[in-house]
Amino acid sequence: MSILVTGGAGYIGSHTAVELLDTGENIIILDNFSNSSPEVLDKIKQITKKDFKFYKVDLLDENALDKVFEENNIDEVIHFAGLKAVGESVEKPIEYYNNNITGTLNLLKVMKKYNCKKIVFSSSATVYGNPKTLPIKEDFPLSTTNPYGATKLMIEQILQDVNVADKDFRVAILRYFNPIGAHKSGLIGEVPNGIPNNIMPYIVRVAVGKYNELTVFGNDYDTEDGTGVRDYIHVVDLAKGHLSALKKIRENSGVQIYNLGTGRGYSVLELVKTFEKVNNVKVNYKIGDRRPGDIASCFADVNKAKKEMNWVATKGLEEMCKDSWNFILKNK
Ligand code: WQD
Repeated sequence: MSILVTGGAGYIGSHTAVELLDTGENIIILDNFSNSSPEVLDKIKQITKKDFKFYKVDLLDENALDKVFEENNIDEVIHFAGLKAVGESVEKPIEYYNNNITGTLNLLKVMKKYNCKKIVFSSSATVYGNPKTLPIKEDFPLSTTNPYGATKLMIEQILQDVNVADKDFRVAILRYFNPIGAHKSGLIGEVPNGIPNNIMPYIVRVAVGKYNELTVFGNDYDTEDGTGVRDYIHVVDLAKGHLSALKKIRENSGVQIYNLGTGRGYSVLELVKTFEKVNNVKVNYKIGDRRPGDIASCFADVNKAKKEMNWVATKGLEEMCKDSWNFILKNK
């Protein structure tokens, strides 16, 4: 019996693969390297001293996917594979819908064919749109403002519908807040394609001197210091949340939905200051305009995950900042 990890060479996928291997799970990684590289697989092996099967397969290639299921006894899937850049999704909606939706439908078709009935899905806090109140609970209304978010929301709906049609089909939907940080070894971490959109990859590149300064997107929000507030979560805590979710669906039928965050928000300036302090390095910044589509504050109510999965994030902002820095220093 194996767990198929789609997108297992990516940022969150690779950290989850490490945690799965460390707990003795048997995994198969599938990735098309559209936003990752083969070296990540070696790093995962180096960290865990464990081996696993790998397939370079695109989820749009249904025949290749079928072959993976034919050759292996896969009874669980953790589905990370997908395009994930918000801005790019606005430019390339067809590519985003095709990749994320068609890719997931292919996966579900093949899972059905091979009687594989457990899936953990990477969703995002972006499905909450602009929440009316904080912290955000799982039963808040859902809405999206861009094609990337729309694909996450649609896939959530598809998974719910598949469960309605087949009660033996078990689903965990994990809504990530803002993952940052890297594995302690410094061997795996976030490697964005081109100029980073997200804040931490940008901060570390300013700190190493690749970019001159960070632009803080607005300081006139209704927050303590005027800059945007987010719930940053260490990627290793996030990865562990997938193991808890897997355990949950092994023991329970239905669709389980959980926020994965720390429950605490930090502003952009708090993040920058913490990064500078713990790493003893300067991060030059200037205040710029608000980024279209950004909301003032976003942080999770994490009680459901705690109560039902016994999962809590344990790593604080300082550790996240240290580990992000360690990774960039080792991978300049
Ligand atoms: C965080 C804060 C920015 C860059 C997005 C997606 C979400 C998820 C994660 C994943 C905000 C500010 C940022 C910069 C800045 N998607 N910022 N200068 O927007 O909360 O979430 O990424 O795959 O779906 O929407 O994350 O890291 O881009 O921004 O001031 O150069 O940092 O305004 O307040 P965000 P982020």
